[in-house]
Amino acid sequence: MKKKYIISGISGITICVIILCAFTINKNMDITETVTLEEQIPTAVSRTGGKVLVTYFSVPETDGVDASSGASRLVSDGKLQGNTEYVATVISEATGGDLFEIKTVHKYPGTHKELIDAAKKESDENARPALATHIKNLKEYDVVFVGFPNWWYDMPQPLYTFFDEYDLSGKTVVPFCTHGGSRFSDAVKTIREMEKGAIVLDGYAISRDRVGSSKDGILNWLKKIGMQD
Ligand SMILES: Cc1cc2nc3c(=O)[nH]c(=O)nc-3n(C[C@H](O)[C@H](O)[C@H](O)COP(=O)(O)O)c2cc1C
Repeated sequence: MKKKYIISGISGITICVIILCAFTINKNMDITETVTLEEQIPTAVSRTGGKVLVTYFSVPETDGVDASSGASRLVSDGKLQGNTEYVATVISEATGGDLFEIKTVHKYPGTHKELIDAAKKESDENARPALATHIKNLKEYDVVFVGFPNWWYDMPQPLYTFFDEYDLSGKTVVPFCTHGGSRFSDAVKTIREMEKGAIVLDGYAISRDRVGSSKDGILNWLKKIGMQD
């Protein structure tokens, strides 16, 4: 009987030691992981003497009302713009960056339902729609902003074509997006995977309901990442 108690006592202590060790190892790994990640992703742009490029993809819808009511379009100074296009314009004006629109050879439908269906089909097929616009003199730029709407919890498929086409190694890539609630989804992670030689900042996500009043927020963010005095 006594022997049984001693054995179960030893077993109990052994289990406690194992749990304690596992907890300590796990805790240490978490700390190491956090430190490594923080070290890897800079929070500001470090300039290397090149120019700034502000690229964007945006599809203003032709039906519905403007972004203040949740549609993918905005009327600014009497001009109809897509939500992401508007944000790109603000960034370009604030940073003096060249504006570049990522356009596809095929035209997306302007009406909401048709656009939703077309984008879903491309997403399901993991399509690479051909691009109609191409960056000249990419080597002149050291900072490349890349803006897009969240489509189906991801970046639109033309952005995959874009990142396939360009090697942005050595540059700082600054993603920004507009969305209906999903923010970036996993798009920033995907960009990091597709542009392994680039520094890809965490970027800036703006809800489509707030695009019309987003200018001050954009300027503050640009200041924070060192792109505005
Ligand atoms: C085809 C399509 C798919 C969308 N999918 C999502 C989504 O998965 N998550 C989300 O938050 N917003 C989604 N939205 C909303 C858009 O991200 C939002 O309206 C955006 O501001 C549109 O930007 P644009 O006017 O520059 O094209 C979707 C919009 C469209 C047209």
